[in-house]
Amino acid sequence: METYDIDDESLEAARRELNGEAPDGPALFEFACLISDIPLDKGKLVIRESGEIALFRLNGSVYAISNICPHEMSPILSSGAIDRDALTVTCPLHEWKFKIDTGEQVGASGGIPIYAVKIEGDEVWVSERSVA
Ligand code: FES
Repeated sequence: METYDIDDESLEAARRELNGEAPDGPALFEFACLISDIPLDKGKLVIRESGEIALFRLNGSVYAISNICPHEMSPILSSGAIDRDALTVTCPLHEWKFKIDTGEQVGASGGIPIYAVKIEGDEVWVSERSVA
């Protein structure tokens, strides 16, 4: 088994990255919508200054991914078909499939950015920067 030396500063930077926090400051989250705005049977498109995201409400959790399908850079994943058991969304144009929780492309090595989600009451807040 390999071991790695990781200093406290690197650990803190990794923690901030996972939580969608700014490198030198508090978490930067933007209000996206109310939980009730996200339909149960499809995604919700949210347009931000930094780009488009697609929100999904699945199995009691809210997930945020880029709305852009990398195949043709099409802004369409919020309209994709959802598989609740597999936690995937399938692009409606040419059926590339992505994991909603990790952003990984199914059956290929690519992927899409995902964002940290914070729920406050009925409000959905999404990290400004992607976390993967
Ligand atoms: S644009 Fe999404 S699979 Fe082609």
